[in-house]
Amino acid sequence: MNDSHENCGCGGVDFHILPMSIDEAIVDRYGKIASQCKEKKLVPDSCGCHSVNFYNDDNLTELSEETILSSMGNGNPVEISEINPGETVLDLGSGGGIDVFLAANKVGDTGKVIGIDMTPEMVSIAQSNGRKMGINNVIFKLGRIETITELDESIDLLISNCVINLSNNKDLVFNEIFRVLKPGGRFVISDRVTEKQLPEEILKSNEQWTSCVAGADLKSRYLERLHDIGYSNVEILREEFSFPKAVDNDHKKYIKDLTLRAWKPE
Ligand SMILES: C[S@@+](CC[C@H](N)C(=O)[O-])C[C@H]1O[C@@H](n2cnc3c(N)ncnc32)[C@H](O)[C@@H]1O
Repeated sequence: MNDSHENCGCGGVDFHILPMSIDEAIVDRYGKIASQCKEKKLVPDSCGCHSVNFYNDDNLTELSEETILSSMGNGNPVEISEINPGETVLDLGSGGGIDVFLAANKVGDTGKVIGIDMTPEMVSIAQSNGRKMGINNVIFKLGRIETITELDESIDLLISNCVINLSNNKDLVFNEIFRVLKPGGRFVISDRVTEKQLPEEILKSNEQWTSCVAGADLKSRYLERLHDIGYSNVEILREEFSFPKAVDNDHKKYIKDLTLRAWKPE
């Protein structure tokens, strides 16, 4: 055994060099990004998403600087969701809260918007952003999108923006979405997919996972999951190549940003 481990009772294992799990790496990365936003330091364009470009000036004037800085989506699901006053909306992986706040404006005082995120610093910055902007019809919860607490058949519209690709159990996520939607409810999700299977070295890299690359499902597999679970009228509302910075030139040409809508049958 290495001398430096003789008295520490660790059995010679260098715990500090054990790799982080994907989930730990995600919480670590997005926790650091949230802290940067809090200090109003510009966030590096980590996923290759120029998130703010997805929002128009009318959207942005509603929002505080910290909210805009913390935006890390790859689309604008709220804009194409046709949200009605009084609806209950759930945002999976709500980050700093940008889409929650835009949806809150549309559902009005008679509706509500719930955001769920597993990174404590993100939940905290979203809550603080909401307080600063005086938005009261929103609630942010710490939690995982694979195991949503309660909310059975209570959601009119589910949104998510560049998050489900980060989950390594997408079937669980789409089953949970099906459970929480009201019969006749819909989702509008912006996410990342790939047209070609990515190689092992990318799939095994935490850096590529947290940058919204390695977890990108094959587009055909993604659509198959939705059909298998029983969603109806699955539509692709937007589809563009995303060329994420984090991935090499050979593979970035296969990666796409999609916005999809689908319905839970009545
Ligand atoms: C790329 S950011 C997008 C944030 C936000 N949707 C936006 O548009 O700005 C991904 C967010 O999803 C959260 N996240 C990733 N995997 C998650 C999971 N399995 N459960 C809950 N939150 C998750 C991260 O903590 C992070 O805040």
